Amino acid sequence: MCSVGFRGARFAGTSWGNYSSVAFLELTNVWQEYPDQVVLERLNLMLEAGEFCVVVGASGCGKSTFLRLLLGEERPSRGRVILDGKPLRDEPDAARGVVFQRYSVFPHLTALANVLVALEFKQAPLTARLFGRTRYAATKRAQAMLEAVGLGAAAARYPCELSGGMQQRLALAQALIAEPRVLLLDEPFGALDPGSRADMHVLVRDLWRRHGLTVVMVTHDLKEGFSLGTRLLVFDKVRHDPQAPNAYGSRVTYDLKLRTNPLTPMTHANRAAALRLASIVPGHAAPG
Ligand SMILES: Nc1ncnc2c1ncn2[C@@H]1O[C@H](COP(=O)(O)OP(=O)(O)O)[C@@H](O)[C@H]1O
Ligand SMILES: [Mg+2]
Repeated sequence: MCSVGFRGARFAGTSWGNYSSVAFLELTNVWQEYPDQVVLERLNLMLEAGEFCVVVGASGCGKSTFLRLLLGEERPSRGRVILDGKPLRDEPDAARGVVFQRYSVFPHLTALANVLVALEFKQAPLTARLFGRTRYAATKRAQAMLEAVGLGAAAARYPCELSGGMQQRLALAQALIAEPRVLLLDEPFGALDPGSRADMHVLVRDLWRRHGLTVVMVTHDLKEGFSLGTRLLVFDKVRHDPQAPNAYGSRVTYDLKLRTNPLTPMTHANRAAALRLASIVPGHAAPG
């Protein structure tokens, strides 16, 4: 499905990259099959440390499944996922933080306690409790993290007392306090109003740079993807059988390197590629 023109745009983009050539996350021939359907097939992908990789594709094409594989919440049916040279552990660990569209922060805990508990899970995985001086130090870190996401004054509030945007800031603080090396975002701003979404873009970009994160973000908003990402992946099916619609899974059909730094505007060539992409990816509007 990759058109020649588009590939050209992609390779034009790679020339201004200065990533190291060492793979940080590597998927080799990854398949995800459920009893009634193949969701992902033959994924071969290399992500370098520090990339902000945006994933788009039609609803149901396997984007969240892909994130669950990266999180270690699911094992691929075939193939392997390597993180920093080692096979991914079977369970999610502190190396990977995740924020969902509607993240279930603990409703019975204050904002501060929600962030603190994430640190307790990391530092005391068996009991999820810290005591004495360690707890005091962890509380100070949690407060500082809340301040970093603009929630310093809301530390004592419960999630139900926070707006949607504030809850997502809290979810980010909770994910980042454990100092993950990869931050996975599953349509994190989809439920927010445009103003809060714009604020979150600024925040995420800033956190990404300051924490030196590798980010993989699913979005249904192509414009958001183009403004935030350094790289854009499109998931789609390349094989179809009308008699058996679930027989084939999605693959990466486009892989576009947008920029090395999200503060840099896209080049003319990449912008043209972006506009073409917008007309190809189902359900996506052209970037403004
Ligand atoms: N655990 C599972 N068992 C069976 N089917 C699943 C499971 N998880 C996801 N699926 C199916 O995989 C497909 C892709 O789902 P998903 O990754 O959530 O898509 P997306 O996030 O792109 O909308 C859907 O058809 C969904 O029903
Ligand atoms: Mg999804």
